[in-house]
Amino acid sequence: MSTLLEVQNLKTYFFRKKEAIPAVDGVDFTINKGETVALVGESGSGKSITSLSIMGLIEGSGGKLMDGSIKLEGQDLVTYSEKELCRIRGNEVSMIFQEPMTSLNPVLTIGEQITEILIYHKKMSKKEASKKAIALLKLVGFSRPEQMMKDYPHRLSGGMRQRVMIAIALSCDPKLLIADEPTTALDVTIQAQVLALMKDLCQEFGTSILLITHDLGVMSEVADRVIVMYCGQVVENGTVEELFEQPLHPYTEGLLDSIPVIDGAIQPLTAIKGNVPAPDQLPSGCRFAPRCPKAMDRCIGELPKLRTLENGRSVRCFLFEEEASQT
Ligand SMILES: Nc1ncnc2c1ncn2[C@@H]1O[C@H](COP(=O)(O)OP(=O)(O)OP(=O)(O)O)[C@@H](O)[C@H]1O
Ligand code: SF4
Ligand SMILES: [Mg+2]
Repeated sequence: MSTLLEVQNLKTYFFRKKEAIPAVDGVDFTINKGETVALVGESGSGKSITSLSIMGLIEGSGGKLMDGSIKLEGQDLVTYSEKELCRIRGNEVSMIFQEPMTSLNPVLTIGEQITEILIYHKKMSKKEASKKAIALLKLVGFSRPEQMMKDYPHRLSGGMRQRVMIAIALSCDPKLLIADEPTTALDVTIQAQVLALMKDLCQEFGTSILLITHDLGVMSEVADRVIVMYCGQVVENGTVEELFEQPLHPYTEGLLDSIPVIDGAIQPLTAIKGNVPAPDQLPSGCRFAPRCPKAMDRCIGELPKLRTLENGRSVRCFLFEEEASQT
């Protein structure tokens, strides 16, 4: 499988009274072509800031890209001008957010919003764009797409709006779709339908997905591979099967233990004790040490590196140092 996106040593900081807040602190991962990768971790772990950094939207949020590279098919987006990034956004990389109402323009019809993008990015004529928009709306399951073209966002349900967002996100055949908690605002039954639709269409289009979620159930249904983040860093990276069958990092173990078992016996929900430290109050050693049931003396003063093991998985924990094939 060939690599689509390669993120290396990504550091995105915020600054409060000269004090640095390392929201994303040396993140490394890759996404292959056609692959669905889930980014998981508790609130505040840096998932959204990672995705905004990839989209080149970080300056707008008040943050600063301090270091690292974001290579899309070998081209480093970090070196791109705002004009070049505008061409990439929505065209080669597109994004779906949790609440589609904030991304849709309330005063434009659905048709106007989709055709506008096609005219801008694909240089289509109004007629061509309209034809393509109708086809896209049909693809995301609207049985009367011509009618939908004339509708305004507020007239649609949350699930319908999110399907419109999928149509918009896929309108320019992007190479990568970043979906940040795309279904958390929807009813549980609708969530599954919307996710299945997104996954099916991306497979059909050959689009890779970076799915941000803190729902491990959602992750297990759609992802091929999982990146687990904690306090702005990747702590584990492996396939969904590997993670569920044998989680390596104590944090991943804790996350999996917090999923209630629905089939079979009901298990008590054992959430990870303690809280995620604030990014301006990180412990000096392993960032998980204050909550880790396996912490050793060494973990208090030393920060473990993300190491790749001989079996290809990677983990940031001293317990696996011996098995690491490289440092
Ligand atoms: N505009 C900002 N100013 C200062 N700090 C910020 C800002 N945005 C994010 N942060 C900090 O960066 C860290 C990472 O935030 P991020 O939004 O990426 O978390 P997340 O993993 O997406 O969490 P959630 O699951 O709640 O969406 C947080 O600790 C947050 O406090
Ligand atoms: S390095 Fe130590 S504290 Fe950190 S996760 Fe591993 S065992 Fe726990
Ligand atoms: Mg977020």
